[in-house]
Amino acid sequence: MADLVKRKRSLKDVPKKRALDKVALSGKPWCPACWRLFFLALLVQQPMTLINAALPASSTRIAIIGAGAVGSTIAYATMLNGLAHEIVLSDVVARKAEAEAKDLMHGSMFVPSVNIAAGSVPDCKGSAIVVITAGAKQNPGQTRLELAATNANVFRELIPQVLDAAPGALLLIVSNPVDVLTYISVKLSGLPWARVLGSGTVLDTSRFRSLLSRRLNVAVSNVHAYVVGEHGDSEVPLWSSAQVANVPLQSFSSPSCLPLTELDRHEIFHNVRDAAAQVIAAKGATNWAVGLAVVRILEAILRDEQAILTVSSLLSGYHGIEDVCISVPSLVGRNGIGAALPLPYAEEELAALKRSVELLRGVLKQLAF
Ligand SMILES: NC(=O)c1ccc[n+]([C@@H]2O[C@H](COP(=O)([O-])OP(=O)(O)OC[C@H]3O[C@@H](n4cnc5c(N)ncnc54)[C@H](O)[C@@H]3O)[C@@H](O)[C@H]2O)c1
Repeated sequence: MADLVKRKRSLKDVPKKRALDKVALSGKPWCPACWRLFFLALLVQQPMTLINAALPASSTRIAIIGAGAVGSTIAYATMLNGLAHEIVLSDVVARKAEAEAKDLMHGSMFVPSVNIAAGSVPDCKGSAIVVITAGAKQNPGQTRLELAATNANVFRELIPQVLDAAPGALLLIVSNPVDVLTYISVKLSGLPWARVLGSGTVLDTSRFRSLLSRRLNVAVSNVHAYVVGEHGDSEVPLWSSAQVANVPLQSFSSPSCLPLTELDRHEIFHNVRDAAAQVIAAKGATNWAVGLAVVRILEAILRDEQAILTVSSLLSGYHGIEDVCISVPSLVGRNGIGAALPLPYAEEELAALKRSVELLRGVLKQLAF
């Protein structure tokens, strides 16, 4: 008995990794106690494995793959929002994910309770949502579609691994070109279409609304307008259905601003469409607004809001559009994507949306999808 107490104490007192090293270096055959110590040390070194096994079905655990500018900003915004009880960050460069997770965890005193850790793809296990931001990003002057071949290869490798680890999770694709990669993820995963969504033009819609809000001098929450189509150069601003506080945009006037002109519209849309290029040219990446946009989608899912968001999803028969992932306003809740909204489109808007579809289909064809 005294021996047992002594052994327990010595286990407690000696740091487990050092004890393991001692056993390993002794060169003697391992006794049962050594093996117990070995397995204990393994568990101590891999806390995520233990946590995963205990997760309930109503998990608010979020896995983020790709701990670059976008992935780590999503983790940061998720922490501030208090949405997740657990966030696991992984990256092909493990040191980067570890450093980002550590840096974020050091701020945990200032946010709602959350456990944040670095892991690897198998640690996506038990996650409600796996957010993928891994892959190449645009260099200044490059379009999103130019990333297609490189990032399709990243996804060919990644998606089967994610599926192995977290077959019950929703997949939220953020890497670009997001519509192409969302389609590829649907096809590679074999998951029901509703469980694979892309961040799509949620960010572009926010850019559109914020520029309109500034120009019209009204709160952004009173501006209702969508950007649909590709998250990229062929995206389509829906001017015809845009409203400010229930007033159609074309008839909106206010004492605090001049009416919107054709030139204003042109300028606003250019600044929406070229926003990423402008920011990337100056600071190398976009991260803050996309971080918030993705957290808005996570929130709609985890709180089962049935919120209307312009996420990218596989369309079948929407205004005659078939078998392509692209953004249109759609319901988003705990089960992923619901119905796409049959918005009224002006003729030229629908034609532009269909051009966007054809562009994406051409890229998918080149990638053999
Ligand atoms: N959808 C949107 O609205 C939106 C907005 C901004 C950026 N993006 C896209 O998000 C992606 C990430 O952008 P970023 O600025 O964070 O780039 P980044 O270079 O800072 O980060 C990308 C990370 O992915 C990692 N990575 C690469 N291959 C991987 C793999 N196989 N497994 C795990 N990790 C891997 C890299 O090591 C890197 O840390 C880009 O494709 C970018 O174009 C999308």
